[in-house]
Amino acid sequence: MPESEQESAPSGIDTSKPSVARVYDYMLGGKDNYEVDRQVAAAALKIAPDAPQAAMANREFLRRTVRYLAGEAGLRQFLDIGSGLPTQGNVHEVAQSVRPGAHVVYVDHDPIVLAHGRALLAVDETTTIVDADAREAEKVMDDPRTRALIDFSEPVGLLLFGILHHLRDEDDPKGVAARYISRLAPGSHVVISHFHNPGPALPEVSEQATTAERLFNEHLGTGRWRTREEILAYFEGLELLEPGLVPLPEWRPETGDHQAVPGITYHTFVGGVARKP
Ligand SMILES: C[S@@+](CC[C@H](N)C(=O)[O-])C[C@H]1O[C@@H](n2cnc3c(N)ncnc32)[C@H](O)[C@@H]1O
Repeated sequence: MPESEQESAPSGIDTSKPSVARVYDYMLGGKDNYEVDRQVAAAALKIAPDAPQAAMANREFLRRTVRYLAGEAGLRQFLDIGSGLPTQGNVHEVAQSVRPGAHVVYVDHDPIVLAHGRALLAVDETTTIVDADAREAEKVMDDPRTRALIDFSEPVGLLLFGILHHLRDEDDPKGVAARYISRLAPGSHVVISHFHNPGPALPEVSEQATTAERLFNEHLGTGRWRTREEILAYFEGLELLEPGLVPLPEWRPETGDHQAVPGITYHTFVGGVARKP
């Protein structure tokens, strides 16, 4: 690691170990990453050269779904779990472009997100950032910073972009999602994007997903490419909206989106939106 990187890093940031938030930031073309993160990214790019496209597809999915939630679905408050580093088109910017004054609570456990998020995500009295472990659903929802902006008796947009696949099987990601969902008022919406292993239906893609999973776990200690059934199970008890659980570029595409080439990552990153009846 170049010495100057540790010196210039915000305090509390360990640049000797890679972090999910910083590797993802690199894939999106961001600047808040270090040599150790770029090494993991380089290894991932060898397995999936189109990984930056997948990251971009995820952000475009975020933009389209949050606009839908703040617009047609009429939501005014959002809980963004595993929000990541500030980037172009942050949730509050997208939501407030449709519904001025919409409230957004960002939640992440990585100190780099908090270091940069305090300035760029917690911008005024409509947004805040909570440093917490996503697995502690009750603690997140009962946090005074969350309660100051979110009224759980009114519909909420629960945003789970690229986070549940960073919870290990033993963390019971379905149970974690269910604990958040159980607190939501009717009319709330849940958005999930998730790494996907298509299994025998697409053997080549499936093999790639397995290799990527191994790499992620070796270097980042996390990352599960789950089956379609496992991902659909998160939406249990909710009404999955059209077009269902699909590769991210297929969720209500709009002109102006990046042209998605159906490469390897096209089928290994899927998402959907559901409504709580
Ligand atoms: C791939 S990024 C996704 C960022 C953003 N949601 C998006 O989809 O563009 C995953 C984020 O989840 C955070 N994360 C992972 N495990 C977490 C946990 N147990 N609690 C809180 N945040 C977590 C990471 O720090 C990272 O910022």
